[in-house]
Amino acid sequence: MIIGIPKEIKDNENRVALTPAGVKELKKRGHDIYVQASAGEGSGFTDEMYIKAGAKTLPAIQDVYGIAEMIMKVKEPIESEYGLIKKNQLLFTYFHFASSEQLTLAMIDSGSVCLAYETVEKADGSLPLLIPMSEVAGRMAIQQGAKYLEKPLKGRGVLLGGVPGVTPAKVLILGGGVVGTQAAKMAAGLGADVTILDLNLSRLRYLADIMPANVNTLMSNEYNIRELIPHAHLIVGAVLIHGAKAPHLITRDMLKEMKSGTVLVDVAVDQGGCIETCKPTTHQNPIYIIDDVIHYCVANMPGAVPYTSTLALTNATLPYALQLADKDWVRACKENRELALGLNVIQGEVVYEAVADAFDIKFTPMEKFLE
Ligand SMILES: NC(=O)c1ccc[n+]([C@@H]2O[C@H](COP(=O)([O-])OP(=O)(O)OC[C@H]3O[C@@H](n4cnc5c(N)ncnc54)[C@H](O)[C@@H]3O)[C@@H](O)[C@H]2O)c1
Repeated sequence: MIIGIPKEIKDNENRVALTPAGVKELKKRGHDIYVQASAGEGSGFTDEMYIKAGAKTLPAIQDVYGIAEMIMKVKEPIESEYGLIKKNQLLFTYFHFASSEQLTLAMIDSGSVCLAYETVEKADGSLPLLIPMSEVAGRMAIQQGAKYLEKPLKGRGVLLGGVPGVTPAKVLILGGGVVGTQAAKMAAGLGADVTILDLNLSRLRYLADIMPANVNTLMSNEYNIRELIPHAHLIVGAVLIHGAKAPHLITRDMLKEMKSGTVLVDVAVDQGGCIETCKPTTHQNPIYIIDDVIHYCVANMPGAVPYTSTLALTNATLPYALQLADKDWVRACKENRELALGLNVIQGEVVYEAVADAFDIKFTPMEKFLE
């Protein structure tokens, strides 16, 4: 198969969909890979590295879309790319269709096959191509929180781990899923006094078993949250209710109960945030302060560490990309239900029910195309 890797052109996006290691794997199986010049630069991969691994580089984005049977990307195509997409071309990338009617209609018009990273789903309901970015964001939440707790950055002036003779900082983590678990591990490793709150008792049991002694688990409810916030130095928002807006576990009035210089990192900002006063920020202006409480609410946290994020993402996408390239999308999806669930739009028809519902578009079951 001919595979194209365009350079990401969305604002501040430095990740790339395939590493030189991925090129080598695809090449070994007889596929041809065309990478747009400088596509890997933001993630530390030079054109020479891609060429050495067996890819060819092409100067312009039009060339890549023009030659490829499968396009692998990171972010959804933006408007200037719509016209480059060919009928029947396979696009394997994040789309997040339900948040953009314009994108959905454009992909329907293009006649392409859109296989979305975010809806590839395992039998246990987990989303293998979203997990790596949650892992990055969870770990980063503590790194950022520790930084903004420093006095010159307006924080309380507390070192997360304390020192011998001085108690460590108290870290509260709301939600013990992928983000919360990774955040807890990082905070615990630095020596902080960590509490994870979740509604799911089995999850709390699991976390209590695997976490070190400086991590406590607690049932998530308003009473417990109100008890803990006056003592917390860093609070991480990491809740998710699938397909819904995040609940506001920290309300506006609770800020008054917090110490001045407390840091809130609301990772759940992309689902509206679980802190009522959260509004999305960017890496250029990551924080704002309300009632002496620092709010860090960057919506694309992994974007700040593109090298790590690219490797984490491509570790997860490559096994699926190999199946798509080896078998073509129809056979690959027939033989692997996880991949089939990634299909959102096929040749002008919406085959993912939630996307069809979001914009009142006719839904066509994907099976029609997999016969
Ligand atoms: N800002 C970013 O850059 C970024 C990056 C990656 C992920 N995220 C977001 O982070 C959020 C968390 O993602 P995840 O992968 O950890 O999800 P997850 O599904 O693995 O975990 C969510 C957890 O929240 C718990 N929960 C639900 N309601 C709760 C409540 N009322 N109190 C306490 N816990 C509750 C669930 O039981 C679950 O354990 C999502 O909104 C995700 O989109 C943001």
